[in-house]
Amino acid sequence: MTDVPLRCQRGQFSLPDDFHYLNCAYMGPLPLVAERAGIEGLRAKRFPQAIAPEDFFAPVDGLRGRFARLIGAPEPNRIATVPSVSYAVSTIARNTRAGRGSNVVIVHEQFPGNVYPWRRLVAEQGGELRVVTPPQAREGRQRPASRGSGWTDCILDRIDGGTVVVAMGTVHWTDGTRFDIEAIRARTREVGAALVLDGTQTVGAAPFDVAALDPDAVIVAGYKWLLGPYSLSLAWFGDRYLDGVPLEETWIARRGSENFAGLVEYEDEYQPGALRFDVGQRSNFALVPALSASLDLVLKWRPERVSAYCASLMDGAFTRLRDLGVHVEDSRWRSPHLFGLALPPAADLDRLKAALARHRVGISFRGASVRVSPNVYNTRDDVEALVAAFEEALTGSRRGQG
Ligand SMILES: Cc1ncc(COP(=O)(O)O)c(C=O)c1O
Repeated sequence: MTDVPLRCQRGQFSLPDDFHYLNCAYMGPLPLVAERAGIEGLRAKRFPQAIAPEDFFAPVDGLRGRFARLIGAPEPNRIATVPSVSYAVSTIARNTRAGRGSNVVIVHEQFPGNVYPWRRLVAEQGGELRVVTPPQAREGRQRPASRGSGWTDCILDRIDGGTVVVAMGTVHWTDGTRFDIEAIRARTREVGAALVLDGTQTVGAAPFDVAALDPDAVIVAGYKWLLGPYSLSLAWFGDRYLDGVPLEETWIARRGSENFAGLVEYEDEYQPGALRFDVGQRSNFALVPALSASLDLVLKWRPERVSAYCASLMDGAFTRLRDLGVHVEDSRWRSPHLFGLALPPAADLDRLKAALARHRVGISFRGASVRVSPNVYNTRDDVEALVAAFEEALTGSRRGQG
């Protein structure tokens, strides 16, 4: 079956015409349908009597169902709604036993919300926090030929019988470096360690199959590649955590909470699956419909087509950037939707920032990485403006400021 390629979806958004937004890894723009759904949800509270008890349950269950489809999870009730990735990581750290002789494996320059909970865990319970660097250490902004090739092996080497959890991103958040997650899953299984994945910079923009990978947890912030509003994220939990202790003891997570008249018949049992890990007031009447509307779009587009669209946008551009002396990761280890562009050692970063501003290009600077992250609303014009800014900064020659 031939797959029809995705066309540019800019019409679904209200991005300004005179700006080249190549920064979805920072924040996804809210689609118009999500904006409308969110506003409608907010308006519902004008007349609270019209908000029925089922409105606390059905919309959020619908959201779990959409996310389950996106990640190929057979049971939607294993998905908890959380405000942030750090909230879910903290939940998991709370349900992890460390202690002398144990270790937690994370990755060099990992997103801080997936570092601090582990730091606290080993500080309180003992054990070692193992931070795995790529094969060759960087000096200044200089990079090895490829960070991706060999990094997975370094991670595999640091996992041993004392490892209680490997917690890492599905790709590196600063430059999209890919890891061989299947190999890491196999190794964690061998030693009995948990694999906790932060899928924030992958899910929505590239295929991800929870059933095939079978990790212990997958957490995804809603406001980037899921194109949702801020402050609503989703976390899938495997068997290992289903009997765990939540961060909060919410009334709605208890069995029978649908019966508002019976809420003071206090209940010891939780709702099934991972619903115990839902944040308090999880039925947010504005955010839940907004994220659901965004997910409907992402499901319609399909992550494999989003990924192919991003790859096609960059056709030819990497060669031109390399000709300017820019380092680009090997395609095997580079994410089509999120990649780092490393300047030649003598280049002036401030000059690049000024050129990007002149060409009205929005990207991010994370660690030593110039991070570019296109999505379905981008066009070849956006990529041309990016390349023109690099040309200007690195050669001094000016082209039209598109
Ligand atoms: C990989 C990754 N995880 C998580 C987050 C957001 O974390 P939180 O939801 O805890 O604010 C980001 C934000 O940049 C990120 O890049």
